[in-house]
Amino acid sequence: MTGSTPLLARLATIAEAAARIASERHRSPLAGDVARLSTLFTEARGQRRPTYMQDPALRRAYLGFFVPHNVARIALLLARAVDEGLLSPSLPPRVLDVGAGPLSGTLACWAVWGRLGPSRAVDLARSALDDGAALLAAVGADVARLDLVDRSLTAPPASWLPDGDVDVVVAANVLNEVGDPREPAPRLRLVHMLVQRLTPTTGRLLVVEPAMRVEARALMAVRDAVVDEALASVLSPCRGARACPLLATRGDWCHGDVEWTTRPPSYRALEAATGLRKDTLSASHLLLAAPTTPAPATGLRVIGGVMRDPRGVERRYACGRGLVTLTGTPRLPPRAVHAGRGEVVDDTVSRGPPPAPRGPGGRSAGAGPGRPSPRRPRAGRGR
Ligand SMILES: C[S@@+](CC[C@H](N)C(=O)[O-])C[C@H]1O[C@@H](n2cnc3c(N)ncnc32)[C@H](O)[C@@H]1O
Repeated sequence: MTGSTPLLARLATIAEAAARIASERHRSPLAGDVARLSTLFTEARGQRRPTYMQDPALRRAYLGFFVPHNVARIALLLARAVDEGLLSPSLPPRVLDVGAGPLSGTLACWAVWGRLGPSRAVDLARSALDDGAALLAAVGADVARLDLVDRSLTAPPASWLPDGDVDVVVAANVLNEVGDPREPAPRLRLVHMLVQRLTPTTGRLLVVEPAMRVEARALMAVRDAVVDEALASVLSPCRGARACPLLATRGDWCHGDVEWTTRPPSYRALEAATGLRKDTLSASHLLLAAPTTPAPATGLRVIGGVMRDPRGVERRYACGRGLVTLTGTPRLPPRAVHAGRGEVVDDTVSRGPPPAPRGPGGRSAGAGPGRPSPRRPRAGRGR
C-alpha cells in the first residue's frame, strides 16, 4: 500500500489544494512566512507561543507547507502499518485527530482509506480546524460527519473525547507541545486516555513526532513507560525489545525515512523559494493498541544508515529484542542492508553482535540510529 497509486495521487491532490487555499488566505509572501515558522519549530522553538496557530500569517504558512508534508508522513506510516499487517485496510475508520491543527491526521486517513467514518478533530485553535475542514472539502472528502472541537487536551476529557470507540487516533506533532519534554507524566496520561478510547482489538493510536533528538527521545521515554506500566501494546516501531536500547546512549534517537518523490510542482516551488527540502519524510512514531493485543516479536526494524568500512563491508543497525548489527556478507540478502530506514527485515539474516556502547570517539560518523546515512544525507529538518 505504501507506494499505491491512489494514495500517492491523493497526497498530491492535498498538497495542491493546500497551496491554493493558503495563497488565498493571506496577502504576505508565503515563502517568508514558511521560513519564519520553520525557524520557530527548530532553532527558535523557545520563542514560539502556544497560540502560534491563531496568527493568520503563520497559520496559512502551516497550511500551505507543513500540512502536505505532515499528511504525507502520517499517511505513509499508516500505509506501512497496513503493509505490516498491523492495521486493517478495510475500515473506513472513525478517526480522532488530537492536536489536529488543520486536520493533518484526518487528511492522512482519508488519503489512505479514501473514506472516513464519523470523525472528530480537537485543537486549541478553531481557525486551524476550520482551515483543515475547507481543505478536506476541497479534495472531495465527506465532511458531513466531521466534528470539530476547539478545546485543550488538558481540559476535562469529557469535554473533548468522543463517547464511542474510535478506530484510528492520530496525535501528530502535538505531544511535544504538551508540557516539558523532560517530564513524561502528562504525555503518558494523555496516551493512556487515548488508548482506552480505541475499538478493542482493531483500534490503533498513532503518535508521530518530529525526527529530532529532543522530541524523539521524549517519545521513546513515553514508550518505555507504556511498556513498564502495561498501558498499551506497542505494535511499531518495536519488534520485541523490552526497553528501548537507543535511550541508553545520549546521542541516538529512533526514526524512519521514506522518500517523497511525488511532490507536485507547486510544492517543489515552495521548497526552492524557502530553501527547505522535503524530499525525505522523516518521523519518529509509536503505533499502540489495547494492552491485550499481541505485539510483533519477530523481524528486525532497520534503524540506522548504511555504514561502509574501508574494506567495503557494509553494516546496518537494526532493532529486534535489542540492538543488533546487520553485516553485509555474501549470505546476507542485499535487501536487508539496503532496506529503507524504518523497514522490517527478516531476522534470520546473518547478523553480528550488538554494537559496543558508544565510546568517547562515538560510532562510525554519521550512521548511527539518529544520524543521517552517509550515502544519502537527510534533507532539511525532521520537522
Ligand atoms: C505542530 S501542530 C500539529 C498539527 C497537526 N497534528 C500536524 O501534524 O500537522 C500542533 C498543534 O497542536 C495544538 N495544540 C498544542 N497544545 C494543545 C493542547 N493543549 N490542546 C489542544 N491542541 C493543542 C496546536 O494548536 C497546533 O495546532
